[in-house]
Amino acid sequence: MDERIARDPAAIRAMFSGVAPRYDLLNRLLSLRRDVGWRRLLVASLAQAPPGRVLDLATGTGDVALALDGRAVIGADFCLDMLALAERKAARRGRPMAWAAADALALPFPARCFAAVTIAFGVRNFADLGAGLREIGRVLVPGGVLAVLELHRPAGPLAAAASRAWNRLVVTPVGRLVARDGSAYAYLPASVDTFPDRFGLAAALRAERYHVITSRDLSRGIAALTVGRWEGA
Ligand SMILES: C[S@@+](CC[C@H](N)C(=O)[O-])C[C@H]1O[C@@H](n2cnc3c(N)ncnc32)[C@H](O)[C@@H]1O
Repeated sequence: MDERIARDPAAIRAMFSGVAPRYDLLNRLLSLRRDVGWRRLLVASLAQAPPGRVLDLATGTGDVALALDGRAVIGADFCLDMLALAERKAARRGRPMAWAAADALALPFPARCFAAVTIAFGVRNFADLGAGLREIGRVLVPGGVLAVLELHRPAGPLAAAASRAWNRLVVTPVGRLVARDGSAYAYLPASVDTFPDRFGLAAALRAERYHVITSRDLSRGIAALTVGRWEGA
């Protein structure tokens, strides 16, 4: 496997620490603000979840957690620099909430304590996708919902070519310039290229005993929303 896409947890954590101060700005720039609408759809998908507490995993700077109005939310991430920014953002908005330092593959929560788990642009970084989905299942109540927003390689040839060009000409150079990090924004497209498409992600959910209730392309397949209901023990 290409070294740039080794999903080593310590390296991933260090990479996000490095880009944390510029993360929000780069998200808006590199997605032309589409990330905002995509997160809105992720949040709306929780209408399918039972009432109860929500865990926003890989919360980063907290954008999904903060958008989850009217629910008790915990935002969790294994990068403390991202969490510190989330906490400050929430305080600025007068929305203090609970934050937890946690690795998605070994969550510090008891079984069956969340009605829903959201995760935006996080599962692609897991060292072991199946193990992460299993661990999320463990903390979900039966019938609880996992909603995943993720970037994918578009299936259509035109969208795929446009996405490759955007990555090469914009994402990597602008990321390098703004975040002053040559590797993080090369890792981004490389990690998308080596991650399953939305059908593969839905299959991974099914393999871990989720019933997939939504699997839909966003922005011609650059991103997708995948929602599963936990059917495990
Ligand atoms: C691309 S950012 C996404 C942040 C946020 N969800 C958003 O919508 O912008 C990915 C985040 O996932 C976190 N992350 C990656 N792997 C993780 C893991 N195994 N456990 C916890 N957090 C993880 C990183 O630290 C980073 O903050």
